[in-house]
Amino acid sequence: MSVKITWLGHAAFLIEGSRKVLIDPFISGNPSSPVKPSDVRPDVIAVTHGHGDHVGDAIEIARENGCPIVCIHELSRILGSEGVEVVGMNIGGTAVVRDVAFTMTPALHSADVEVDGQIISAGCAAGFVVGIDGVKIYHAGDTGVFYDMKLIGELYSPDVALLPVGDWYTMGPREAAKAVELIKPRVAIPMHYGTFPVINGSPEEFKELASKHCEVVILKPGESYEV
Ligand code: NI
Ligand code: MN
Repeated sequence: MSVKITWLGHAAFLIEGSRKVLIDPFISGNPSSPVKPSDVRPDVIAVTHGHGDHVGDAIEIARENGCPIVCIHELSRILGSEGVEVVGMNIGGTAVVRDVAFTMTPALHSADVEVDGQIISAGCAAGFVVGIDGVKIYHAGDTGVFYDMKLIGELYSPDVALLPVGDWYTMGPREAAKAVELIKPRVAIPMHYGTFPVINGSPEEFKELASKHCEVVILKPGESYEV
């Protein structure tokens, strides 16, 4: 059985195998999103950090589908207070939720959230290695490049790496190509670019730089890649 990875724009991906996993569902606020929140029917949602362009429609989708949200402990307390099922975990650990393995990885990024006009701590930013049907997919979240990405590659050998390339808030193409060199996935898919004017890192430049290390697949929002 193959696993289908569909880019929903920005950092949002739907991973479909024996279960459906939705990551960072920023959908209704994203003009480039090819779907509506009610179109996706996940078994489990994962959120990398508390910023609005990653939490997105997670609460509404979790409520409609009765599915849990996997995220870092502090963020799980905040989202859980909305009455949805949450699975709080932390960096370095693996949680198996609805038969899908979520290993939480570090990310070099901030992660506070605004709740009722107040900025509050939501733990730190993270990424995930998602293990489903024998396939491992690394979603880096929002991050700068860091040398311990090599450790993520050595420990988990991800088949596919989903990497931000948009620059400004995250890695740009040059840094993301270095990340590929450290992680050594079979396939890399760029994300977190083009949504807003400032995140203008070029996926083509990333492809040119990273192609000597692995296959690079550039998706348009709504397009899929099958592993
Ligand atoms: Ni962020
Ligand atoms: Mn972001």
